[in-house]
Amino acid sequence: MAERIAIIGAGPSGLAALRAFQSARSKGAAIPELVCFEKQSDWGGLWNYTWRTGTDEFGEPVHGSMYRYLWSNGPKECLEFADYSFEEHFGRPIPSYPPRAVLHDYIKGRVEKSGVRDYIKFNHAVRGVTYCDKSKKFTVTVKDLVADEVKTSEFDYVIVASGHFSTPNIPDFPGLRQFEGRVMHAHDFRSADEFAGKDVLLIGASYSAEDIGIQCYKYGAKSITFSWRTRPMGFDWPERITEVPLLQKVEGKTAYFKDGTKKDVDAIVLCTGYLHHFPFLDDLLRLKTRNRLYPPQLYKGIFWWGNPKLIYIGMQDQYYTFNMFDAQAWYARDVILGRIKLPHYTEMAADINKWISLEEKLKDPFEAIDFQTEYTRDLLSATDYPKLDVDTVAKLFKEWEHHKMEGILTYRDKSYPSTLTGNMAPTHHTPWMQALDDSLEAFLAQPDPAASKVA
Ligand SMILES: Cc1cc2nc3c(=O)[nH]c(=O)nc-3n(C[C@H](O)[C@H](O)[C@H](O)COP(=O)(O)OP(=O)(O)OC[C@H]3O[C@@H](n4cnc5c(N)ncnc54)[C@H](O)[C@@H]3O)c2cc1C
Ligand SMILES: NC(=O)c1ccc[n+]([C@@H]2O[C@H](COP(=O)([O-])OP(=O)(O)OC[C@H]3O[C@@H](n4cnc5c(N)ncnc54)[C@H](OP(=O)(O)O)[C@@H]3O)[C@@H](O)[C@H]2O)c1
Repeated sequence: MAERIAIIGAGPSGLAALRAFQSARSKGAAIPELVCFEKQSDWGGLWNYTWRTGTDEFGEPVHGSMYRYLWSNGPKECLEFADYSFEEHFGRPIPSYPPRAVLHDYIKGRVEKSGVRDYIKFNHAVRGVTYCDKSKKFTVTVKDLVADEVKTSEFDYVIVASGHFSTPNIPDFPGLRQFEGRVMHAHDFRSADEFAGKDVLLIGASYSAEDIGIQCYKYGAKSITFSWRTRPMGFDWPERITEVPLLQKVEGKTAYFKDGTKKDVDAIVLCTGYLHHFPFLDDLLRLKTRNRLYPPQLYKGIFWWGNPKLIYIGMQDQYYTFNMFDAQAWYARDVILGRIKLPHYTEMAADINKWISLEEKLKDPFEAIDFQTEYTRDLLSATDYPKLDVDTVAKLFKEWEHHKMEGILTYRDKSYPSTLTGNMAPTHHTPWMQALDDSLEAFLAQPDPAASKVA
């Protein structure tokens, strides 16, 4: 097989693609030539933490949006790879809500084991992708950032796995130009310590606002004010945290809200989401969407309808993450290997429309979880990806939603069973609100039973 595949990005989605092909190869299949371009110097995507903000050492936009003290915001049992359990990686069951470094270690463990690193060209930023109808090939232009050289080469397929939580969506508000405090987007937030003793205003009512807000609370902020546009998050917030309608203007240090209230604040964090941003793609190939469960124009949520040799992985809004990326990668692999035949364009369009109209009817997060469960199940049923019990994953997601409503500061203290091993996760040695050290070593430390007896 002489075909060549370019994979853009070595985050969880790009690594899922590499792992899918490697799995077929280990079972004797001939696979195409794979070249994965990753602009960072290491793999893991967002999970590869950087202190940098703005631009990196090569002048490239910094991809990272993760911050220090970031802990998983969903149970790890919901994202577990079906071919690599947490127990296999860590040698024992671990608690359900690991910090970033632990999840990064787990992501790396699977790909190190499968030996796919040689396919990746690190420090290589993709600059352009065009398609030629005549040759039926993509031309991919890449900059080797270390050698400072731009090269082009041809590929039969392109897999876009460059993520969509990296380019910030930055609205403006009247008065921000003169605001007498710090303004930043969540993309540039790195450390909650900076806000100890401060009055912090967060714009947005989704995961970034919620988590950065409670991080700042945990690390000693004086007060947290969340400002929502469409609806409040509605958790049972502790004292020092309030939710108000949308910011209207800022004067000096005073923020004025839609309900007529006001608050003096020291810092404003715009937790206003991210843009699907693919500056390297020809306009005809470029996915244009808001953050949603079923982006338009993608058959099976993967194949660019106008040219299914262009494949997108991980472009959905995400309840499911790592194992859904795997389901997509295995499906894409099987189409490329000729094991699954894509239907006619009209049939693909009808299928896309069916999913989109289902998505548009969803009323609440529970229905959204069911939607993404059915989507993932649909993909899994067509490939040899190891069995993933999505019904149990959906049940755990719904328990997680309830646990968040019961206690937004305590939900990370809960435990869930692995859908692979059936073993219940142990309780973490320290309640999340008191766990200030987010290192892998601190998380995996086994409490000394003798010490607790003395205490
Ligand atoms: C703050 C934050 C917290 C999150 N927390 C969780 C969580 O707790 N649990 C969870 O399951 N998910 C979480 N997520 C969701 C996250 O999107 C997924 O876990 C996962 O990282 C997505 O993987 P990806 O490979 O699709 O994208 P990314 O992780 O974004 O990786 C994309 C890769 O593509 C590379 N790339 C981009 N452009 C180019 C280019 N032009 N050329 C070459 N390489 C390029 C990037 O450098 C990067 O390595 C979080 C997201 C954010 C923003
Ligand atoms: N592990 C963790 O703890 C953690 C922490 C942070 C983020 N994450 C992940 O990061 C991803 C992105 O989450 P996100 O919260 O950044 O993005 P998001 O889920 O897309 O939410 C964007 C938010 O911004 C608001 N918004 C957008 N434009 C606005 C405007 N002009 N004015 C006011 N509000 C505006 C939206 O409000 P409307 O509802 O009005 O549209 C929405 O509340 C998620 O997958 C999440 O799981 C995880």
